[in-house]
Amino acid sequence: MMQNQNDQSRMDRIVSLAKRRGFIFQSSEIYGGLNGFWDYGPLGVALKRNLKEAWWQDMVAGHDELAAPAGAPESYEMTGLDCTIIMHPQVWKCSGHFDLFHDWMIDCRESKRRYRYDHLHGRWAAHRGKRVFVVTDQSGDDALPHTVTRAQKFFGVRANKIEEIEWGGSLEPLAEAVKGGRALLADALGPDAAAPGSLTEPREFNLMFETRIGALAGDDDDRAFLRPETAQGIFVNFKNVVDTSRVRVPFGIGQIGKSFRNEITPRNFTFRSREFEQMEIEFFCKPADSAAWYRYWRDRRWKWYLDLGLTAGKLRLREHEADELSHYSVGTADIEYAFPFLAAGEFGELEGIAHRGDFDLRSHMEGKLVRRDGGLVVETGADGKPRHRGSGKDLSYFDDISRERYVPHVIEPSAGADRAVLAFLCDAYHEDEVPDEEGKPRSRTVLKLHPRLAPVKAAILPLVKKDGMPEVAIDLYRRLKRHMTCQYDEKGSVGRRYARQDEAGTPWCLTIDGQTLTDRTVTLRDRDSLVQSRVPLEEVVDLLRDRL
Ligand code: GAP
Repeated sequence: MMQNQNDQSRMDRIVSLAKRRGFIFQSSEIYGGLNGFWDYGPLGVALKRNLKEAWWQDMVAGHDELAAPAGAPESYEMTGLDCTIIMHPQVWKCSGHFDLFHDWMIDCRESKRRYRYDHLHGRWAAHRGKRVFVVTDQSGDDALPHTVTRAQKFFGVRANKIEEIEWGGSLEPLAEAVKGGRALLADALGPDAAAPGSLTEPREFNLMFETRIGALAGDDDDRAFLRPETAQGIFVNFKNVVDTSRVRVPFGIGQIGKSFRNEITPRNFTFRSREFEQMEIEFFCKPADSAAWYRYWRDRRWKWYLDLGLTAGKLRLREHEADELSHYSVGTADIEYAFPFLAAGEFGELEGIAHRGDFDLRSHMEGKLVRRDGGLVVETGADGKPRHRGSGKDLSYFDDISRERYVPHVIEPSAGADRAVLAFLCDAYHEDEVPDEEGKPRSRTVLKLHPRLAPVKAAILPLVKKDGMPEVAIDLYRRLKRHMTCQYDEKGSVGRRYARQDEAGTPWCLTIDGQTLTDRTVTLRDRDSLVQSRVPLEEVVDLLRDRL
C-alpha cells in the first residue's frame, strides 16, 4: 500500500496550525531556523506545561503513599529531583553512554547529505546492461516506490516503460546487504545522488553534545557533556535521597527536564529533536518483586495516556523481543502512537518502560558493566583494570525491618514531553462542520484537547461591545481567572471568536448577551458537542471548576 497521502497532508495541516496559532515555532526562525530545535509559542508553552503538570501531579505530587493503587503489589512512595544538565563526565562513562550511545552515519559526497546508516535500504536494479544498487532513505510504504522513482531517473526510463527495469532481490537494509557481500558501497546510488559511488564508509557518531568547562578549557579533562537523558541524575542521587528523606524501598523518584541528543537526522516535526524534555521515573524495588512492579508501571503508564484522551485505537503497547533489549534490560515495553507522518500500520515511540535490574546502581558503584555469561561484570581494559571506574560509594540499601541488604532493582518509565505534546496535538486535531450565525454550515478546525491539557480553559465573550455587556463579562473573567487560565475576547463576530477558541482547543466559551442583563444567565458553549446551555452567572465559576 502507498503512503497514506491523506495522513501526510493532515500532518502538514497540523504543523501549519501549530505555527499559525502560536503552538510551535522553528527555533531561530528569522535566521533560517536550526534543524532539530523547536520553540513553544504562547499556546504551546501552556499546553506543554499542562502536560508536564498532569504527569507530575498524577505520578509524583498527587500520589497517595498510604494505599496501594489498583494493580500495584503494595503501597509505595514517590518523590522528585531536579538535577543539572551537565554532570561529572565519569557519569556517562559508567552509564555506558560514552562508549555506546552512538549511531552509524553515512555521508553523500555528491549531495552533501548525511544519513543514519540504519535508515537506509536498497535493492538491485538493472536496465540495458547497467546495474545499480538503488538506496532509499524513505521508510515503510514509501521506500519501495522511492526506489522505483530513483531507478527510473537514473536509467532515464519513461514512466510508460518502467517495466523494462529488472529488479534483483527484495528491499533490504543497506548495512545488511554490505555486510552479507550482496552489495558494495561503490555500486550504491545514494538517495539524493545522480551517480553511484558517492556514499562514504559508515562512521560511528556519539550522540552526546560535547562542551568544555571553565574559561581556559583546553585539554581532555575539561570535556563535559549535555545529558542525553535525565535518568542518570536520579541514579547518582539515589543515596542522597535515601539518606535525607524518609523514603523506603519500594519508592520512585520522578524528574522532568531537558535532554540533548545530537541526532543525525532530526525529523518529523518535534518527534526527533536535538533538544527535548523527558519525564522520567526511576522506581527502586526489591529484586524479587521487580517483575510485578514492571507490569504495574507498564499498565499504569499506558492507562495515563488513555485517561488524558488519546484514542485507544491509535495507541499500541509493544513488548520488546529478547534480541531488541538493551544489554542490561530484563524487559522493556514501548507505548507507541500512530502519528500521521508515519505510513499506515507504523507507530512511533512515546514512552519506554524498562526493567533495568541493578545495572545502573551497580555501574555507579563498581564501574562500567558488561554482560558476560548471563551476568553483569565490570568491563576491564587490556591492563586488567576497570575500563571506567565507578564512584566506589556503597549504593546498596539496608532494609531495617527485614534486616536485608541488597542493591535495588529499577523499573524506568521514561516519557518524552515533546513527543506526548505532539501526539496529543495530532489526536486532538479535527475538521468538521458547524452552523454559523445564520445556521449555514461552516467548516471548522478544532483541537479536542482534554480540558486538563487545553492551554485556555474558558473564553468570556460579550456578544456586543455595549449595553453593559463588557462590564459583566470582565467581572466574570476576573473571577474565573483566579481558578483557571481564561481569555477575554470582544473582537469580531461571535462566530469568529468561537472559531478562534476552537482552534486553540478551548473547551468552553461563555457568552454574555442581552438575556444576561435581564436574568443573569450566560450561554455556555461546549467545544465538542456544540451544545449551548444557559447557566446562572453566579454558578459559572463553581461549575467549570467542577468540570475541570
Ligand atoms: N532513560 C531512558 C531513555 O532515555 P529513550 O527511549 O532513549 O530512553 C525516552 O528515551 C523517551 O524520550 C522516548 O520514548 C521519547 O519519548 C523521548 N525521546 C528520546 N529521544 C528523543 C528525541 N530525539 N526527540 C524527542 N524525544 C525524544
